[in-house]
Amino acid sequence: MSTEIIHPARSLQGSLVLPGDKSISHRYAMLAGLAEGTTKLSNFSTGADPHSSLGCMAALGAEVKDLGTHIEVTGVGGSFRQPTGDLDCGNSGSTMRMLSGLIASHPHTFTLIGDHSLTVRPMERIRKPLEQMGARIALVDGHAPITINGGPLKAIDFDTPIPSAQVKTAVLFAGLQAEGTTSLSEAITTRDHTEHALRAFGAKLTRETGERPRLVIAGGQKLKAIEATVPGDLSSAAFFLCAALLFPDSNLILDSLGMNPTRSALLDVVAALGAKIKVLNVEEQHGELIGTIQVNAAPALSRGPMEISGALTAQLIDELPVLAAIAPYTRHGMIIRDAKELRVKESDRIDLVARNLRAMGATLTEHEDGMEIPGGQTLHGAQIDSGSDHRIAMAFSIAGLRATSATEINGAEAAAISFPEFFTHLRNLCPQ
Ligand code: S3P
Repeated sequence: MSTEIIHPARSLQGSLVLPGDKSISHRYAMLAGLAEGTTKLSNFSTGADPHSSLGCMAALGAEVKDLGTHIEVTGVGGSFRQPTGDLDCGNSGSTMRMLSGLIASHPHTFTLIGDHSLTVRPMERIRKPLEQMGARIALVDGHAPITINGGPLKAIDFDTPIPSAQVKTAVLFAGLQAEGTTSLSEAITTRDHTEHALRAFGAKLTRETGERPRLVIAGGQKLKAIEATVPGDLSSAAFFLCAALLFPDSNLILDSLGMNPTRSALLDVVAALGAKIKVLNVEEQHGELIGTIQVNAAPALSRGPMEISGALTAQLIDELPVLAAIAPYTRHGMIIRDAKELRVKESDRIDLVARNLRAMGATLTEHEDGMEIPGGQTLHGAQIDSGSDHRIAMAFSIAGLRATSATEINGAEAAAISFPEFFTHLRNLCPQ
């Protein structure tokens, strides 16, 4: 286990191009693996998680080459082979859940395994719809290892019971290869990268409007390889966007950043908390928005605590740890509710955030589905437990920048799950 020491900093200055978005990298890797032809992906995520997806594609018969400048995936043209061993999803819930949907229609037996953290995360949520479609799926007490006895699937009409882009994706990937037309509706709209990625690879996916809009996908569609540049990861940028709020003269430029509207609620929140954000340009690639933004600190707009609940919580789910970690430094504090899902991420993120904030001397109230964190607090350095969770390690590195003494991040190596370059960028942007 490695430790990083974070010293109090005085400013944040500089520019950055973020490695490719983790969510989009997973989807491109998987669809490229299934498609016909050779897909070329530039700025693919450097995180370990999307590389777990690439590893699974190779195990299923795709050819994966890392050429340094880009990744090439030659797909299996619609038919995955029987893997010779387990499909190792590492720490990646996205790999395990989305892959289950992608492979369920193939006439093989698959065993999906993961590390300790992944083995205690809930998998029932994908078993139910995939079994409804005809796959036979065995879990161990609702968890991995997952054994899938694949075979022909039948389309279903599915309403997602919890807001989860991973569950949505598992159903759409299975629907793409099922007999008939699958439809799906979400009570709360989650990130829509799957919808864009499916269309980019040539699938037809429509959206029926109405009181509860439905995504509709016909089975039996074939995918064709693409060339794409993965937009910079906004959830990785979130750490530096939040750090920029901590210093009155901060100046940060983020280039080639993914700005998909289903992911960009964070920009509104940091603006309300006191960031001036200038969008310098935006373009669209394969349905995804990519832009350059400049961020400076400015007086906070909010007059009371920042409240994050309902649909906003779902849109910010991966950014909540870092928002909570800087909440004590904000003027009016933060109230986070409807975030029970945080308890079943790579760690129990509510518990770990609360414990680590208290270790730094913060006062807060913990709820089953969130926390209330008063603003205007002064924190001191402490020993931080990352719980082997990448987002906790990085969130508390940011909290450490404004502490009155040095902060020790134990289990700092977890950052490599999504953002191996994090500590290097942090040192360049915030000389300590
Ligand atoms: C993701 C969806 C979210 C998110 C995860 C990535 C995705 O998970 O927390 O980091 O790429 O679809 P859930 O679907 O479990 O909410």
